[in-house]
Parts: sequence; structure tokens; C-alpha cells
Amino acid sequence: MHNHTVGRAGYPDRDGFVTLDACIMDENGNCGSVGAIQDIAHPISVARLVMDKTPHVMLVGDGARQFAIEQGIKPEKLLTAESKAAWKKWLKKAEYSPVMNIENKQARQGSKYNHDTIGMLALDAKGNIGGACTTSGMAFKMHGRVGDSPIIGAGLYVDNEVGGATSTGVGEEVIRNVGSFLVVELMRQGMSPEEACKEAVARIIKKKPEVAKQIQVGFLAINKKGEYGAYALQEGFSFAVCDNNKQDLIIPGKYFYKEVK
Ligand code: GLY
Repeated sequence: MHNHTVGRAGYPDRDGFVTLDACIMDENGNCGSVGAIQDIAHPISVARLVMDKTPHVMLVGDGARQFAIEQGIKPEKLLTAESKAAWKKWLKKAEYSPVMNIENKQARQGSKYNHDTIGMLALDAKGNIGGACTTSGMAFKMHGRVGDSPIIGAGLYVDNEVGGATSTGVGEEVIRNVGSFLVVELMRQGMSPEEACKEAVARIIKKKPEVAKQIQVGFLAINKKGEYGAYALQEGFSFAVCDNNKQDLIIPGKYFYKEVK
């Protein structure tokens, strides 16, 4: 069984194309991102190259792919037999229902398709904060759909004076609220990382209460002191923390609603 939410083996869009989104941001406000890139297994590496080697922040689609290849990254087919079979099965009904939570029990038992995102925040020995975010996005999304993950301020934001934040879940609701930027700004106003994530979740509920009940969004944040916290709409959002002393690989995040049935 492969991970179907990032990179190689990620589920394709409704037309059968695996398109990936990623971004990266450092302590100096440098950032790079790629949206809807195809045939490149590690989009985060391309985002890093956009940051380091271009005057731009974001490249998308064919341009992003072309840039990656020019930079020496070998293209490869990312649609595996397993992902292709899942897509063919989905095509039989082709129900567009991007409202589920891959982390809930039904999804873990394989009865639902969806997406999740890998968001990372790091605090180094000098106290500098950086972050990255990567995903294959929503399973069987419309071709060309880009979520929150490559959008600086939505899927990821770092301000080295304050902290960093990243998100997972249905990107559209994160974008509507510029979620990760919001979390960082709430920390700037004095909230703890968990309080800030909780307030960002509350904004999503306030803006679209009926939608919020049906979807998952989770935020993760760290501040300059190394304090961290998370909060999600639904049960099942967990995160990992590693430092010199410990590796806690599954920390359950707090959440607002009872598990989606
Ligand atoms: N959060 C990932 C996405 O919506 O694509």
C-alpha cells in the first residue's frame, strides 16, 4: 500500500493526471512554490529551486515542469498501477465529493478517497524558523485545480519574528481564510500556537458552517520559543514532533467536531 496523497503514487485528477503542489519558506522571507506540476516526484525540490534560482515565487503547470527538467530533475511517470486502478474505479461513478477526511476511520479502512498534505515546520539551533508543504492535492480533483499547499500564506507561512504555520485538509477553505498567515498573525498578537490554530479553525466554521461540518482542515504551528500546537475541524489530525531528546511520531491534534461519519 502506497501513500496516495503526495508525490509518486499520488491519486490523479479526474482526467488521470497526477499533479503536485508544494512550497517552501525560510527565515528571511524567501519562498518558492510550484503548482500543478506533473512528472516530477519531489515538487518540494523544485519549489526550493524556484526560491534559490529565480526572481519568482511561483511556477505552475508546464512551466514548472520545464524549469525542473532544465535544473536537472529527471521526469518520471507518477501514476502507479494501484492509483490508476483507484481512478478507474472512481470513474465508474465519477462523484465529485471533495468533502471527506482521509484520517477518519472509514477512510483508513479504504472506503473513501481523499487527500492529505505533508506540512513541516523547523526551528534550528539559532532560533530560525523555516517550513515546507507538499501534496498531490484532492483525489480526482478538476484538472488544473490548485489547493492551499503551494500558496504562501495559505498552506504555509513563516515569519521569523513570530513563528510558522502550515495546514492540511480541504485547501479551498484554507485559502478563503489565508489560514497559515492568520495563525502566524494571531501568534504575533499573543496567542499560543494551539490557540492560534483553534481560532483559525473557528474562522473557517464561521465563514462556511455547513461546509465545515463535512470536511477536514487542520493547522499546525510553532513559535520562536519552540512551543507548538495544532487544531483541526475533525478528529484524526495527528502530527509528529522531533527534537534532540525525543521523537513523538503520532500526537493527536485537538479538534472541534466529532468524527465525520
Ligand atoms: N491541502 C491540500 C489541498 O487542498 O490540496
